[in-house]
Amino acid sequence: MTHAPPDPVLFDDWHVVARSEQLEVEKPVAVNLLGEDVVLWRGKDGVAAFRDACVHRGARLSLGKVRDCTLVCPYHGWRYDEQGQCTHIPAQPKLTPPKKAKVSAYRVKEKYGWIWLSLGNPARDVPAFAEWEDDSYRKVHVGPYPFPASGPRIIENFLDVAHFPFVHEGFLGDPAYPEIDEYEAQISPDDEIGVIARDISVFQPDPDGTGEGRRIAYTYKVLRPLTATFVKSSAGARFAMFFTVTPVGERMSFVWAYIAMDYSTLTDDEIRSFQDKITLQDVPVVSSQRPELIALDLAEELHLRSDRISIAYRKWLRQLGLRYGVLT
Ligand code: FES
Ligand code: CO
Repeated sequence: MTHAPPDPVLFDDWHVVARSEQLEVEKPVAVNLLGEDVVLWRGKDGVAAFRDACVHRGARLSLGKVRDCTLVCPYHGWRYDEQGQCTHIPAQPKLTPPKKAKVSAYRVKEKYGWIWLSLGNPARDVPAFAEWEDDSYRKVHVGPYPFPASGPRIIENFLDVAHFPFVHEGFLGDPAYPEIDEYEAQISPDDEIGVIARDISVFQPDPDGTGEGRRIAYTYKVLRPLTATFVKSSAGARFAMFFTVTPVGERMSFVWAYIAMDYSTLTDDEIRSFQDKITLQDVPVVSSQRPELIALDLAEELHLRSDRISIAYRKWLRQLGLRYGVLT
């Protein structure tokens, strides 16, 4: 088993590892978080998450099945309850399984139609998704997108409006209007928000579906090291994105996201295929960045006024003491 050095910041945070609907009652699901193989399964009290290796001979429990609210190992049929305790050993049915016949269990939460997993002891709840509870927004799930890059590089790209005219020409930007107006970005005093940048003005070729280009304003919030949102409004219509990156390794991630919008000119499928296209434009560029990990020392790389939000993001990660997926 290869392990990156554990990073308490990410280890103790919540990360999306599956959609709720992926977890059928009888089938466990294999996921990976921070290099750790984990099996998810649905028991009677909700979703359980274990280290994906049987304590008997190390077979992958995710190859097994769920029976009578226990997870059954595929190899010799040992059964585990929702706490990870082995309750039955078929080869010795009269034996009470020893206490140490127990797999490591992790914390799981089901929220926003996702399964959130933490390998450590999270000090806070999963990040707030304000538009989720607001019925005036329709929510469209997009992704997950496999993204061969480090989590912080991907979040920084999500926050970066200056790339729109070049990477997303004709979709999110126009190379004839690449300037970024002055804006403020700061580390937030609010404990639930890391970095906030309001009203970043961006020229978009067709923000309202009328075929006419104009400037619109983005407000970004970075909620956790690998979770961020934006809201943009145009002619009273609001479009938000909730975006979270799950680190599998320091250079391999999955992006999970929702689009939330309070108007509907497009079908869910149209929204998804638009977002798929945007992400596919980002992937090769972000994966090409060298070094692959961002430096938290601002003396590295060049930072301009128009990069204020990524400067604030790097400073905040440094304050948090992030070590995984960054050059410190
Ligand atoms: Fe799981 Fe033997 S390896 S029961
Ligand atoms: Co992009």
